[in-house]
Amino acid sequence: MEKLTGLKKIKTAVFISGTGSNLKNIIRFSKIKKSPISVNLIISNDSRSKGLNFANQFRIRKKIFNYKNIKVAENKILILLKKEKIKFICLAGYMKILSENFIKKFSGKIINIHPSLLPKYKGLNTHSRAITNKDKFSGKIILQKKVKITARDNFTSLAKRVLKQEHKLYPAAIMKIFN
Ligand code: GRF
Repeated sequence: MEKLTGLKKIKTAVFISGTGSNLKNIIRFSKIKKSPISVNLIISNDSRSKGLNFANQFRIRKKIFNYKNIKVAENKILILLKKEKIKFICLAGYMKILSENFIKKFSGKIINIHPSLLPKYKGLNTHSRAITNKDKFSGKIILQKKVKITARDNFTSLAKRVLKQEHKLYPAAIMKIFN
């Protein structure tokens, strides 16, 4: 990953599909002086994503893409990324699998966050989807943290504690990459 030059922050797009708590956290982080990135674009595949509200709140450009045709959607996204001079992508709860072609175009410049201890539980039917799509998961784990599951845990309580850790780890991962 390229080193930071001068004071310019790396133009970043955050891809979301849902609540956007990681998005909000990344935006907040991006505003501190030591952050290597600035969030310049928010992309979603779903106009109902709650996280899109953060675009208005923080006055960041947002764009929703219709995924009826993946190829068309990805090509449109790539055009916009180029136009906006985006150099880095943070996936934060994006519920679409990016194609190999897309990843190649942004090779080494995309990071993701996942709520399980990868490679375990690559969530949401990931195994069957990956097999059908002949996808290969690539890339290395930047940071990982274990969250203890207690006997009293249910989905909600565990998700809450995991998210808390995610919000610490995502900025730390960005720092790690660029330093
Ligand atoms: C997070 O748990 C993330 O790890 C997963 O999707 C969830 C997104 O949550 N990929 P939010 O939209 O950032 O609140």
